[in-house]
Amino acid sequence: MNKEELEQIHDKARAEHVPIMMDDGMSFLLSYIRSHDSIQQILEIGTAVGYSAIQMAGIRWDIEIDTIEINEAMAEQAIANIAKENMHERIHVHVMDAYQYETKKIYDLIFVDAAKSQYRRYLEHFMKNTRIGTVFIFDNLNFHGMVDDESATKNRSTIQMVHKIKKFRDHIEKDERFQTVFHSNVGDGIAVSLRAK
Ligand SMILES: C[S@@+](CC[C@H](N)C(=O)[O-])C[C@H]1O[C@@H](n2cnc3c(N)ncnc32)[C@H](O)[C@@H]1O
Repeated sequence: MNKEELEQIHDKARAEHVPIMMDDGMSFLLSYIRSHDSIQQILEIGTAVGYSAIQMAGIRWDIEIDTIEINEAMAEQAIANIAKENMHERIHVHVMDAYQYETKKIYDLIFVDAAKSQYRRYLEHFMKNTRIGTVFIFDNLNFHGMVDDESATKNRSTIQMVHKIKKFRDHIEKDERFQTVFHSNVGDGIAVSLRAK
């Protein structure tokens, strides 16, 4: 993985307002993967320009990633970035709505970083691709602080989304299939949910 090229992808994404993961959230995700050697098969929901996928694949050579992106223009950039890093044999970009993605594969880690209001649906859709020990990592559960402080927005659709995220956060913390740890002070709020049943 070329550090300079990676920085270019990062800086270009930030300059073009592509919503890549916050830097400390990314560090958290990478150190989680680094400290769990058993993580080899990863599913990512929300590729954007491939920044997080390239970073995750850069940790170990045995890591293979399926990543799903609904936006064709975004996916095109991701495919080009991944090819530049010579990771196209280990990172597979699927250009489609995540709900249309069907596979019999079982993943060790599912990183959920797409439409925030749909997290519960993603969780249920991909349960069949998990085993006991699979971990889901959900990003943006604070939604820029608005989940804990709704007064930060007056926009109706944002408020609706904030309610959905809050509902999901409550749900995942109570869901007995998972042991969930919520890291509210990391990035934009990250939950790590380990399938226990
Ligand atoms: C926050 S960005 C992903 C950032 C990326 N994980 C990173 O940190 O480099 C979310 C992406 O999810 C995509 N997305 C939204 N809804 C989706 C869906 N239903 N299926 C697949 N991709 C979706 C968006 O187009 C957007 O590019």
